[in-house]
Order: sequence, then structure tokens, then C-alpha cells
Amino acid sequence: MRSEGRTLRGAALPEWPPPGGSNRDGSHGCEPPEEDTGGPAATTGAALPTVALPPSAVTTAVSATITLQQLTDQLQALETEAAAAIGAAADPAELEQLRVDLLGKKGRLSGVLGAMGRLPGEERPQVGQRANVLKEQVQSLLGERLHQLQSSALADRIARETLDVTAPCRYVPPGHRHPLQATVEEILDIFAGLGYRVSEGPEVESDHYNFTALNIPPHHPARDMQDTFYLAPGADGGERLLRTHTSPVQIRHLEANPPPVRIVAPGRVYRRDAVDATHSPVFHQVEVLALDEGLDFSHLRGTVTTFLQRFFGDLPVRFRASYFPFTEPSAEVDVRWRGRWLEVMGCGMVDPAVLEGLGIDPERWSGFAAGLGVERFCMVRHGIDDIRRLYTSDLRFLEQF
Ligand code: DAH
Repeated sequence: MRSEGRTLRGAALPEWPPPGGSNRDGSHGCEPPEEDTGGPAATTGAALPTVALPPSAVTTAVSATITLQQLTDQLQALETEAAAAIGAAADPAELEQLRVDLLGKKGRLSGVLGAMGRLPGEERPQVGQRANVLKEQVQSLLGERLHQLQSSALADRIARETLDVTAPCRYVPPGHRHPLQATVEEILDIFAGLGYRVSEGPEVESDHYNFTALNIPPHHPARDMQDTFYLAPGADGGERLLRTHTSPVQIRHLEANPPPVRIVAPGRVYRRDAVDATHSPVFHQVEVLALDEGLDFSHLRGTVTTFLQRFFGDLPVRFRASYFPFTEPSAEVDVRWRGRWLEVMGCGMVDPAVLEGLGIDPERWSGFAAGLGVERFCMVRHGIDDIRRLYTSDLRFLEQF
């Protein structure tokens, strides 16, 4: 109907006077859409203007009729509908959509007000007043519902986030590191401070890495001192064993990383030893390797002494000549501890034969290696008399650390 009204006006009636005065008189601020204001909306039987219309415009105008009763009914229906819809809105977004649908520029109320222009002038204020009351009602319903939704959302959230401060707590006793692990970490820390990186290798090794590549060929007497546990051959048919020391990590690391290198390699090692107060078939070592240009025995001595003094305190350290197949010369290191010399590690300059086996030129690269038993360091440091205490998980013992 409104589009027909537009057609009417569009059909050239510029002089048409507003029928029966301005609709603004009784509108209380409710403004109908502009195209209806003062327009030739008098298409109802009540006030059909007596003016010569172009034939097309006249036929269009005939259907555009409305009565006061119809508009009042529409407002009444709108009120009922709006109240139900607002009451059923589930969230603020839905409410906002309702506000736009009901009160917005193109909303339902505007539609009714638009049609109001087609009423005789004296009837318009009634509709305008009614519309204004409705508008205020709808606004306050929207406001109330919004408030309701917000407070029930808040109540939900409070209920969800409630803490029962009276609930009994679950006691989880704080754990701590095993003394052996703490010792390993302390050793690695000291070497990290000297510029060393950590490298690791497998506990299941091949004969090649554990012995041969370290200059311990088959039948070499040094093998007797490190009898171990053998496993079924691997997929390649090669002999597999539990590594007897961490020295194979030297070989593995140099295969993958060309010198210069400075590494420490911690890990578990295995030997076929009978258990007693100082022996265990499984124990821990830390291996040290430095390979660079121009390294000599003074670097070995300086590094090992610095490390031992950081770990044990500023104690006398002594080097004794010894023998290892993979170092030349080799030495054992003792620390003066509580009035006696304690043997704590083996070391030496990397044997050129080991470097040649790796394709590294011993004329250019030289370096030193060292290996120590972690249990020994741990026992000396804490005054532990029996190595077995470190493996039996007795809390009376462990809780002292
Ligand atoms: N691998 C030797 C062992 O388990 C310890 C050792 C001695 C390691 C001298 C070294 C070294 O790197 O240079 O008995």
C-alpha cells in the first residue's frame, strides 16, 4: 500500500495540500516515514480528494484504504506479539534484533505509523498517542528483559565459578631429584659453564662403537676388564651388547659433528660385575671430549682440575700415569679427600689411531677425553658408604637429600 502511495505522489501531484492538517499535531514524537508525511495518502473513502488524477494514478489509489479501527487493531496485535517475543528472547543479541524489527526505521511500528497518514486528520492523534504508548511499553519491556538476561547470566557464572573453600585438600608431597640425578646435573652444569654441550648415545651398542672404534680390537686384553651383557644380534647380524662405558659417544658424536667439539655425555652403563658395597652391574658415567687445533696435555690438566675443584671444593688434585687404549698418554686422577687420595676419573689425550679411524687428521686435530663414575662422585660428596643405597628406593635414605 505504501508503494502505491508513492506511485500516487510520483504521479505528479505537487500542489496537493496536506489533508486535514499536519499529522505531527498529535504524534507525540512518533514520526512516520517521510514519504507518508503530508502526502496524498487520502486514498480512503473518508477523504478522497476531488482532483483530476491521471487515469493510471486513480486506479492505483483505489486499493489504498485503511480505517482507524484497523490501525488500532494492528497496534493491539503488535503489543501482544511484542510482549511474547520479548519474554521469549534467549539472549541480548536476540533482543537487539527484536528492537530493530519492532522499533527500527523499517520496523513494525513505523509500518503502522506510515499507514496513519492515510487517516483523516482528526483521527491521527489517537493512533499517534497509542503508538507512542506502545513504543514506550516495548522499550521498557526490552530493558527489563535485558536486565533479566544479564543478571541470570551473572548468576550462572557465579554458580559455575564458585570455589568450595571448605573442601579437604589432597596432599601431594613435594618430590625431589634422586641424589644420583642431582649429581649428574651438577657435573653437566660445571662443564656447561666451561663451554661444553651435552651429547647422548644408546645404551644398546654394537661391538664396533663400544670397543673396536675405541682402539680395542677383538682379543685385546682391555676387553677382559669390561665384560658385559650380550644381546641377540641386530637386524644387520652385528653383535649387540649393553655399553660398558660412555666412551662410544665420542665416536658417534665425531661421526656426526666435525671438530672442533667440546661435549659431555652422561648415561647409564653396564658391566658383568658382582654386586657389593662399591660395585653394581648398572651404574652411571659422564664422558668428556674436547677436540680442536692445538690442544695439549696442559688443557686436559687445566680443565680436569678446574672441574674437580668446582665439584669437591679447592682440594689438591693429582695425575698418575695410566693406560687406556683410546688415549695416549693416559692418566688417572686423584683428589685429596678427608686425609687420603681418592681415585675419581680416567683421562688422556685422544689416541691418533681413534682419530684416523674416523678419517680425522691427527696432525691437525688433537684433544683430550675423560670419563668418570657418577656414583663415586655422589658417594664421596654425601659420605654414602654403600652403592646399593642408591638403587633400593628406601625413602628413609632418599629423604635425606
Ligand atoms: N671409559 C673408561 C672406563 O669406563 C673411562 C675413561 C678413561 C674414559 C679415560 C675416557 C678416558 O674418555 O680418556 O673405564
